[in-house]
Amino acid sequence: MTSPIRLNRRCFLASTLGLLTTTSIPTFAATKLLEPYNFKKTKNTNPSTLAKDESYWNRIAKYYDRTEGIINLEHGYWGKMSHPVQDFYLNAIKMVNQQNSYYARKDFNQDMTSVNQMLANALTINSSEITLTRNASEGFHALIRQYKNLNSSDAVLWADIDYPSFKRGMQWLAENHNAKAIELKLPAQCSKADLIQIYTQAFQENPNIKIALLTHVSNQHGLKLPVKEITAEAKKQGIDVICDCAQSWGLVDFTVPELGVDLAVFNLHKWIGSPLGVGALYIKEGLLDKIAPFPGDAKPDTNTIAQRVHMATADFASFISVPMALDFHTKIGGKNKEARLKYLRSLWVNQLKENPNIEILGAIDEESSTGMGSFRIKGKTSETEVKNLQKTLEEKYGVFTVVRDGLNSGYCIRVTPQIFTKTEDIQALINALRVESA
Ligand SMILES: Cc1ncc(COP(=O)(O)O)c(C=O)c1O
Repeated sequence: MTSPIRLNRRCFLASTLGLLTTTSIPTFAATKLLEPYNFKKTKNTNPSTLAKDESYWNRIAKYYDRTEGIINLEHGYWGKMSHPVQDFYLNAIKMVNQQNSYYARKDFNQDMTSVNQMLANALTINSSEITLTRNASEGFHALIRQYKNLNSSDAVLWADIDYPSFKRGMQWLAENHNAKAIELKLPAQCSKADLIQIYTQAFQENPNIKIALLTHVSNQHGLKLPVKEITAEAKKQGIDVICDCAQSWGLVDFTVPELGVDLAVFNLHKWIGSPLGVGALYIKEGLLDKIAPFPGDAKPDTNTIAQRVHMATADFASFISVPMALDFHTKIGGKNKEARLKYLRSLWVNQLKENPNIEILGAIDEESSTGMGSFRIKGKTSETEVKNLQKTLEEKYGVFTVVRDGLNSGYCIRVTPQIFTKTEDIQALINALRVESA
């Protein structure tokens, strides 16, 4: 029988803080968890050169379990934990279960303060501007439900490329205040310049827009919005922007100041690689009063971002594993991950875009592209046609993808590699599509 983990708050804090400050960490995560991924630095320091270094990425792939039975090109749902994060999380579950309320009531809050600080450091913001949530949706719902500045003479804007449930949320927000609802319909293919022009024009044509949703990276086809430029245009008209970074953080390397947004939601359980059940809500310093506290959570003597969501009982072990996930992410490097994922997309996009029967959706330039992408057979935009193709790829070729249905231009198939995806996996998709599009 394995001996029970002896872990108290001081051990856990020491170990998590150790991640930040030293390479050797005492107890818990210590030897067992940190050492295995102390992988050697590669001599490739340029992310775009490293992106093509298969031996480096094969080494990284060893830190992950491969999906059995299929080539998995659907990593947009959530992020697989690396072994060090998974091991840490499993130990954290055991510790939480063993120590139970004694840990949760006495020590968890202090651990969360540390985790929050690490999160703020990673996003280059103050810890008072961010609070952990269970997912991006929780943060988004707090923002729209508790948004204080909307009335019936205002308008609410979102776009077809936004996350479907967030589009419905924006629609609800408009209806709830008898405000005007505006859905932008973007072309199937866009450049950065197109995107700035389309949003700017929409803002100018609708001077009563009060709040707009911008999706940093669309879950439909991986298109990246020039959030900074569009937000600057929005601010000229006093429009509040909610930035949906649920799919972007870790897929793309950025900090909050680089986006210039005031309100944003994040996931750590996608591209940062934390356990499931970790997101975050950002409200810029000084703007807390735009968003009311969670119903009933207002306190006369404090006014904090944490009061905007009501965490209640949650997966304590997931949250305290965040430092390990951030550490693993940082060791590989956000820019290196972004470049590798973009390279993997370019492998299939560059081969298939010359094919007259295939339509590649989303970005047509480097600046707007990410590792995620979508396609369909030209002219075959219906639910049945696209679902049949996804099924064929899965059942005949063993390549797993997912159908997306939110774009104004019709249904599509989304392809999302991960940093451990092999180039042969991408080649399998290309080979299958050559046959199926002929
Ligand atoms: C762009 C985008 N927004 C929001 C979400 C919602 O994330 P969650 O389910 O973690 O709240 C997702 C999830 O896939 C997404 O891709």
